[in-house]
Amino acid sequence: MTDPQNRRKERAVTTRHSFGERFTDHMVMLEWTADQGWVDRPRLLPYGDLTFSPAMAGLHYGQVVFEGLKAHRRQDGTLATFRPDAHARRFRQSARRLAMPELPEELFLEAVDAFVGRDGDLLPADDPALSLYLRPVLFASEPCLALRPARQYTFLLMGFVTGGFFSDRPDPVSVLITRDFSRAAPGGTGQAKCAGNYAGAFLAQQAAAEAGCHQAVWLDPVERRWIEEMGGMNLFFVRGTGRAVEVVTPPLTGTLLPGVTRDTLLTLGAQRGYTVREERISVDQWRSQSESGVITETFACGTAALVTPVGEVRDGEDRWLIGNAKPGQVTMELRDALRDLHEGRAADTHGWLRTCAVSEPLRV
Ligand SMILES: Cc1ncc(COP(=O)(O)O)c(C=O)c1O
Repeated sequence: MTDPQNRRKERAVTTRHSFGERFTDHMVMLEWTADQGWVDRPRLLPYGDLTFSPAMAGLHYGQVVFEGLKAHRRQDGTLATFRPDAHARRFRQSARRLAMPELPEELFLEAVDAFVGRDGDLLPADDPALSLYLRPVLFASEPCLALRPARQYTFLLMGFVTGGFFSDRPDPVSVLITRDFSRAAPGGTGQAKCAGNYAGAFLAQQAAAEAGCHQAVWLDPVERRWIEEMGGMNLFFVRGTGRAVEVVTPPLTGTLLPGVTRDTLLTLGAQRGYTVREERISVDQWRSQSESGVITETFACGTAALVTPVGEVRDGEDRWLIGNAKPGQVTMELRDALRDLHEGRAADTHGWLRTCAVSEPLRV
């Protein structure tokens, strides 16, 4: 490998347990103004710092929405992005909720293709656990502190190579039920992927870590009784074994994020013959049904973490295990089904993968 290539790879490939710390060499940029709308087409630029006014509206009033999606190298060597159209749709919905301009799907896809086409070669051919995580973000860049939607916005798309949010292995995580905070409110922004939702969640995540847990679980904001989601992931519960498996996930109440992985797993689960259902599950049910063996597995899912088993739950002084606190069979089957799709071992019957033109791996 030549020196520049070496530097390029070193810069881009995160250590397996870091996430979003080192970025690839390029990014995509596009502007919107009230006068011109989207200004031209997405531009591919070297990754680097940008200059903005201290009065940039997004910094003060939080008009910031983002997405997270991945490109994978398939076993035939080609690169493909997973469900970028679904992420483009959610990006638009998030922007609409924050009174921001909606990026048309074709521009979102053009930005994704430009980025993956340029930096996708960093994904090696021999390590399918690595993927290219793409982070599109749109923020109010108008230098104006008037309390109204901004009249100028900047779209950026950057990315990094990652081995997974937790780790490459499906190690079960422990979770703490959040009792003191709510992530979202009815009529609020819970179903939008906006920056403020994450800032408001960090304290609960800190409390979970202080209690010795990996993640915080959110309850519904009204009764504080129904399970909603977990950190940056949706949750699924498995009942039964063998042919009678039931896979359920909380319904989209407006206060949790409609995950693309959640939607994918509902389809993959039904395809495998499981009964899949959206169903409200209370904390009490989660506990009693786990203890009685009715709930056999619980797992979290999301773009970054794929499918991750939940092994242990804490709720104040209470504590219970899910199954034998090891990765369950249904969890692993769905995880493998998703990975098989990503890595091209399973046929893409739903048209979920968008193949990218440039697919030569970086030669080592
Ligand atoms: C709060 C929240 N819930 C759920 C998810 C899972 O969504 P997806 O499967 O689209 O990554 C995410 C990640 O984007 C998230 O941030």
